[in-house]
Amino acid sequence: MIYPIIRNSLFLLPPETAHEVSMKGLDLVAAIPSANKWMSDYYKVSKQSLAKTVFGLHFPNPVGLGAGFDKNAAHLDALEMLGFGFIEIGTVTPKPQAGNAKPRLFRIPDQKALINRMGFNNDGVELIAKRLKERKAHVYYKSNMIIGGNIGKNKVTENQDAWKDYCTNFIGLEDVVDYFVVNVSSPNTPGLRELQEKEALRKIFSELQNINKNNKPILLKIAPDLETSALDDIIALTSEVKIDGLVSSNTTLDRSLLNEMNTERAKVIGPGGLSGQVLLNKSNQVLEYLYRGIGDKLPIIASGGVFKPADAKSKFDAGASLVQVWTGFIYEGPSIVKNILKELK
Ligand SMILES: Cc1cc2nc3c(=O)[nH]c(=O)nc-3n(C[C@H](O)[C@H](O)[C@H](O)COP(=O)(O)O)c2cc1C
Repeated sequence: MIYPIIRNSLFLLPPETAHEVSMKGLDLVAAIPSANKWMSDYYKVSKQSLAKTVFGLHFPNPVGLGAGFDKNAAHLDALEMLGFGFIEIGTVTPKPQAGNAKPRLFRIPDQKALINRMGFNNDGVELIAKRLKERKAHVYYKSNMIIGGNIGKNKVTENQDAWKDYCTNFIGLEDVVDYFVVNVSSPNTPGLRELQEKEALRKIFSELQNINKNNKPILLKIAPDLETSALDDIIALTSEVKIDGLVSSNTTLDRSLLNEMNTERAKVIGPGGLSGQVLLNKSNQVLEYLYRGIGDKLPIIASGGVFKPADAKSKFDAGASLVQVWTGFIYEGPSIVKNILKELK
């Protein structure tokens, strides 16, 4: 109930600063056992009927946090307190990267949207893996939240060598994440989306599955801007190489989803991926198309524009096995998971 007031204050800060400040605050709360317990009791909806087994993993509930929110796996305890069933860390790259110049994250409040061109800023696979190992080794470690590792390539890596970056990330994170997502759909790394082409994907997935001796689920995250012929290629590819599921979708480059005033604003903001409420229908159309082609053969994690329980329901109705929030978390606040799960019951 007080979140709109907190949000208004946070929105006075630049978006990235607001993100850092709020996560630091939540980290502090999470570190105090009694406060952590109070928050967990308040926000977590623990009900056996919400648990779901998807690609062989046991999810305590089907609402997760999308990639890019906790890129460095630095806030997992704080986020777990808010009831997420799973969190996708990353995008992780082999070497640490600073990402694009700031400002690179922008709010469009009246359409509950964001534009970002972060550019895979992250601490690199080695440090992130170390952080995850230490968390698991902590004496108080007790968690049933699933961790996904979203992996990408460094900006300096040529596309022809991209598969090596994906393999390096896989090897680095294999022991500390539960599933992987191959991200070839971010619009903010030049040329990355070209890797969504069938032969490039075949190479990446064949190389990854070659080293995947313990059968970790490896999913593919796709852009909502693909033509149906490219979606058909991906559907066909799932029968040719082992892909364990899809994440649909990433942010869009389509500015026509914005109203006239915000289209002008977006021109001033410049390049970047658009997310939030405006993405719901577009990402649902892609989801429906994929589900029509794949059916129940492969699970789909749905991402894009989830704010309210009805948004999550529209994704489950369209064939999703799990849903993720991101921009909705910024606008709706920490109760978003609880609100969705209450309705799902
Ligand atoms: C600031 C920001 C950073 C993001 N970073 C990543 C990323 O590193 N990797 C990725 O796969 N998706 C990234 N995403 C995309 C989200 O995971 C999600 O798929 C997308 O925002 C659509 O969901 P939404 O409308 O609920 O935000 C990012 C999104 C935002 C807003």
